Amino acid sequence: MQKVVVLDFGAQYGQLIARRVRDLHVYSEVVPSDISADELLALEPSAIILSGGPASVYAEEAPSMDPEILELGIPVLGLCYGMQLMAELLGGEVAHNDVGEYGPAELRRGCASVLLTGTPDVQTVWMSHRDAVSAAPEDFMVTATTEACPVAAMELPRKRWYATQFHPEVRHTAAGSKILSNFLFAICGLEPTWTMANVIDAKVAEIRGQVGDGRVILALSGGVDSAVCAALVHRAVGERLTCVFVNHGLLRKGEPESVEHVFSEVFGIPLVHVHAEERYLRLLAGVDDPEAKRRIIGTEFWKVFFEEAGKLGDVQFLAQGTIYPDIIESGARKTGGKASTIKSHHNLIPFPPGVSFELVEPLDHLFKDEVRELGEELGLPAELVWRQPFPGPGLAIRIIGDVTAEKVALVREADAIVREELDAYNQRLFEKTGERNSAHACWQYFAVLPDVRSVGVMGDERTYERPVILRAVESADAMTADWARLPYDVLASISARIVGEVAGVNRVVYDITSKPPATIEWE
Ligand code: XMP
Repeated sequence: MQKVVVLDFGAQYGQLIARRVRDLHVYSEVVPSDISADELLALEPSAIILSGGPASVYAEEAPSMDPEILELGIPVLGLCYGMQLMAELLGGEVAHNDVGEYGPAELRRGCASVLLTGTPDVQTVWMSHRDAVSAAPEDFMVTATTEACPVAAMELPRKRWYATQFHPEVRHTAAGSKILSNFLFAICGLEPTWTMANVIDAKVAEIRGQVGDGRVILALSGGVDSAVCAALVHRAVGERLTCVFVNHGLLRKGEPESVEHVFSEVFGIPLVHVHAEERYLRLLAGVDDPEAKRRIIGTEFWKVFFEEAGKLGDVQFLAQGTIYPDIIESGARKTGGKASTIKSHHNLIPFPPGVSFELVEPLDHLFKDEVRELGEELGLPAELVWRQPFPGPGLAIRIIGDVTAEKVALVREADAIVREELDAYNQRLFEKTGERNSAHACWQYFAVLPDVRSVGVMGDERTYERPVILRAVESADAMTADWARLPYDVLASISARIVGEVAGVNRVVYDITSKPPATIEWE
């Protein structure tokens, strides 16, 4: 498989470059910048991209790279810091400027360049730098400039070395996608063959190779990643996959039923539905500390899971839906020739003593939206594949204070109304714009039950009941978020429905805090 390897120098949006390359149907992965030329060669890259990064090339702690990498005969594209590093390593000069260039800049093309072919002579590009190359290395051609940047793009076609000070991976660079295509297809001669259909074929073959005629178990959580993983592993090994669904009683309304329906009835996957609702309520009784709740729920999940796994007899493999950001964020490096270290934050498995399984992680190189696409291609229903994020500890961390059956029922009903109303709102926006996560679409939305009561009046009666907090945010990746600017009439109908339909609630309030300083969840 053709592959573009991105060396990550700590870029603000390190993964973005790989995503843009994949959008062009070429497989790409990110590796730390301190990779050696030999390690890199073992990955068999067809092209190398050097990312941006926050450092100055002259700073003491500045990340560098193995200079041998430039001499492997593989085409290289340096972006921003990546370009400055190329200049420095190849004998050019980088100047430390007092004033930086941040945001849109007008790029003027110089001499002919395959990299810039098909883009306007004068175009808007996105810049984010203080230092800049002041003199290109020997033999390089300067192919573009901006007012602040005498060398905004440079290249040495004979060596297939290319570089831009601006960021083609950022959408604000109008011709960014064209520039990346020029690099991938015109310069490196790659083929746009990385599609979800091909990914399925390759992964199915890989899983069959790993599992042989062994048996696999998988913990279904109700979320997207484990669901897609199950569908994919099932495609590869059929009935030799058993799914264990631990129902902790903290899922959203209708979710356990939908898991049963999709996996048991539609896909025909052997499914063990473990009703652990009572067990969880007992464990959580009186616990009000958020971290303690998380710990109890997480520990118990695996305890229940391994109890069930033990009953299944001889099973050698455990599949799980670890995805690429889990791997990158945990700093684990998974390179071709090296043993993998998995330290995924949400996915750390506490194997009991004496228990061991070989892990099957077929999604570990996919981004979230690719996992969704794969799910659709595998025939999973859209409402499952496009489900909004939902925390592993479920409704327990949306109940402030201790968890009781009554509170779970209340927040579940309120949450169902929030979802119904805002699903419909998002659908209206989708029909208007044709985009799933268009501006002002809600990305995540739910109800929170705080640990207070307030006075109200219903009919002629004074009430002393609970408020529900509505949380609805716009976001792309949960790292930052803003509260959704919902139309008043949408807010009004959510409020009216919750107080009208959910017994025990007499007030609805809207959380108007962004992340940071708040988080999306309340606990
Ligand atoms: P916060 O509240 O930190 O959440 O802004 C960011 C995103 O992560 C989700 N989240 C979790 N997901 N297990 C998960 O699988 C968890 O324990 C957990 N806590 C938060 C949250 O819903 C949001 O999308």
